[in-house]
Amino acid sequence: MNETTSHISVMVQEVVAALSPRDGDVMVDGTFGGGGYSRALLRSARCSVYGIDRDPSAIARAASIVREFPGRLTLISGTFGAMVQLLAAQGVDAVDGIALDLGMSSDQLEEAERGFSFQADGPLDMRMGSTGISAEGIVNTYSEQALAGIFYVYGEEERSHAIARAIVAARAKGPITRTLELANICAKAIGRGANGIHPATRTFQALRIYVNDELGELARGLSAAEQLLRPGGRLAVVSFHSLEDRMVKRFLQERSGRVVHASRHLPPRASNGPAASFEVTAKRAIAPSKVEITRNPRARSAKLRSATRTAAPAIPFDAVAAGVLPEMRA
Ligand SMILES: C[S@@+](CC[C@H](N)C(=O)[O-])C[C@H]1O[C@@H](n2cnc3c(N)ncnc32)[C@H](O)[C@@H]1O
Repeated sequence: MNETTSHISVMVQEVVAALSPRDGDVMVDGTFGGGGYSRALLRSARCSVYGIDRDPSAIARAASIVREFPGRLTLISGTFGAMVQLLAAQGVDAVDGIALDLGMSSDQLEEAERGFSFQADGPLDMRMGSTGISAEGIVNTYSEQALAGIFYVYGEEERSHAIARAIVAARAKGPITRTLELANICAKAIGRGANGIHPATRTFQALRIYVNDELGELARGLSAAEQLLRPGGRLAVVSFHSLEDRMVKRFLQERSGRVVHASRHLPPRASNGPAASFEVTAKRAIAPSKVEITRNPRARSAKLRSATRTAAPAIPFDAVAAGVLPEMRA
């Protein structure tokens, strides 16, 4: 197994500063990826880290980092949405810090066989783990209506109906199995828009989010973090698009007892429910520096939000009711 990663960690210093590990702390890196955050946390204090990733190849690549920090890094295969159960199996029920760096890694994007890229030909897979329905399954079996819904909701694609119609017409001639095939269908259906982004960008984003239930995972992950963090424990979440950032922002607003706008069309509602379970120090999200974006263009859309756990009990988070998780599961 090749142990090198091509992933460049995003806002790693900012994340370590937000989590500020101390000697003896127990930290969770919920999205281990290339291990950049775990390594930085382990270097910054004599803490221990549980690194979770749903992608078995990320775990398999980690052997050298495990050797670098003997006895301090434990890798767990699974999803961060299930981290309460995954850590319980390790005998851990409370932690001092949790990092989530959402989405896919460069290792996943660059491996054409994983099917995440519309620029390299590969099978239409897009599963970060090895279970569940693939993008190919969705594209070839879901109704036109359901496809349009996925592209609109998860890709914020305004031409979702035109793309869904083109997919249904193309698959009538034979199954769509390759990434470039789908990218060409999108390009023919909607052409290049004024914004200059590739016409398949939003469709691929939507399929990836749907295939991996990324928003459901985020809702479960935030709730799990609230259950696991000790009073004074820190949470840091790096997101890459507005759907994710909106969920993190709303969750932290609600949990820190600030005014919640469920919708901008509704009057503001003061959160007068249970005691605040998080304290948010920086109200605005932190963005990467210009220097970092120049060095790593993938960082350009990143936003970091962080918060500190209070002693108040955890409360179930209903992401649908909070208006951040679409009810649509076609
Ligand atoms: C952006 S990368 C993380 C990079 C990492 N912070 C680093 O510095 O190398 C995201 C990683 O999280 C994993 N991932 C995404 N969603 C996940 C989930 N719900 N549970 C566990 N791992 C997940 C992906 O497989 C990928 O390896």
